[in-house]
Amino acid sequence: MDKPLKLAIAGLGTVGVGVTKIIQNHADLIATRAGRPITITAVNARNRDKDRGVDVSAYQWVDDTAAFADMDDVDVVVELIGGSDGTAYDLAKKALGKGKHFVTANKALLAHHGHELAALAEDNKVNLAYEAAVAGGIPIIKAMREGFAGNAIDAVYGILNGTCNYILTEMRETGRDFKDVLKDAQELGYAEADPTFDVDGVDAGHKICLLTALAFGTKPDFTSLEMTGIRHINATDIAFASELGYRIKLLGIARRMNGKIMQIIEPCLVPKNSTLGTVEGVYNAVHVEGDYVATGHLVGLGAGEGPTASAVMSDIIDIARGYETPAFGIPAKDLQAPKWVNIGETVNCYYIRLNVLDEPGVLAEVSAILRDNKVSIEAFLQRGHDPGQPVPLIMTTHESKHKNITKACAQMENIKSVLEKPCLIPIENIK
Ligand SMILES: NC(=O)c1ccc[n+]([C@@H]2O[C@H](COP(=O)([O-])OP(=O)(O)OC[C@H]3O[C@@H](n4cnc5c(N)ncnc54)[C@H](OP(=O)(O)O)[C@@H]3O)[C@@H](O)[C@H]2O)c1
Repeated sequence: MDKPLKLAIAGLGTVGVGVTKIIQNHADLIATRAGRPITITAVNARNRDKDRGVDVSAYQWVDDTAAFADMDDVDVVVELIGGSDGTAYDLAKKALGKGKHFVTANKALLAHHGHELAALAEDNKVNLAYEAAVAGGIPIIKAMREGFAGNAIDAVYGILNGTCNYILTEMRETGRDFKDVLKDAQELGYAEADPTFDVDGVDAGHKICLLTALAFGTKPDFTSLEMTGIRHINATDIAFASELGYRIKLLGIARRMNGKIMQIIEPCLVPKNSTLGTVEGVYNAVHVEGDYVATGHLVGLGAGEGPTASAVMSDIIDIARGYETPAFGIPAKDLQAPKWVNIGETVNCYYIRLNVLDEPGVLAEVSAILRDNKVSIEAFLQRGHDPGQPVPLIMTTHESKHKNITKACAQMENIKSVLEKPCLIPIENIK
């Protein structure tokens, strides 16, 4: 058997501990599969004294994270700290620059600096690997880079954030509102104390940038991403969506359209029996459309110690086997600057909820605005009749231009009896 592959692990939190456990518990299995043992030389975290539920006493403890890059008995630096900049970014540059392979679960780092780091890895003839950065335990990076490599990709989209999917599922199953369910999710450990990255779509945004790059050979670009989270979705939306035959899912979508690319994070109505409509709770799912494969659909756990560590290990075993793959499937120098679709010109069917005072004439005003903006209504729904009181007014539209429907919504907000900003959700009629 060949000489061991030696690791330095930066960060011993949820994922770092998970990786350490797999290496300890599956040493023989991994050595057989990789053709050589995989060992840990050194580790670090912020607090050396913390009990992490795993024995790390056999490994060298290094206080200065950057020092991993200079250690002769380290082949691979495994970064499990997080954050787009600071320690993780500095470590990535230094480790790759010194000819160490770099494995990370850090989507924020790669969404912001992916192109620079991929180029640095190639210049130094080492791997930059990040299977765990998108959809946790689902091997979507490998699938995109290798499994679907013979296809021109038309679209990749899916449920990329388990916290949001859990919240939306709970809202539907219990009829409770967003804030209430978010509080529960935080108590159960499914959502962070500061939930911004999850519920405002940032986390899913980082992930779709990486999938866009893999699908279309473009540089990851987070700065131009259109992003809408799920804070504005309420129990009424969930209930009406159900009644109309849909589920509401936060989707990351990357789609090729007339030579340009649409890249967006937004909640969407999807048919409840569709592949994505049936993915509930903390599960993630990614749907890939290629010209020869037609469609591929992958489902699994997108986060947590085991699934994420499992994905990190797949990258480490690839390196032990000697696989060399460009980070985004093609050489970094060939990654193009993306040409983005103008979202205003895209066409979709929409769901609109207005919270209105139940009084005569509202419907006529709403209809006039929609007509003037060339938006054609498919269905109006109103339940109950309570004169002078707030009631939800639900509409679905036929295909309409995004810029027309957003203009109509802005005008409807100015109607005296419309009490709050209209809630606008696209309908994705996927299979
Ligand atoms: N958790 C998941 O389910 C999941 C899923 C997919 C991807 N990821 C990604 O995996 C990465 C790690 O996530 P995690 O959930 O494991 O995070 P975590 O539990 O918060 O652990 C972070 C670790 O990094 C250490 N750390 C923080 N700042 C440091 C610094 N400046 N120098 C050295 N060590 C430092 C912490 O030390 P102390 O323990 O001493 O505080 C901790 O051990 C992130 O990029 C995350 O986005 C996580």
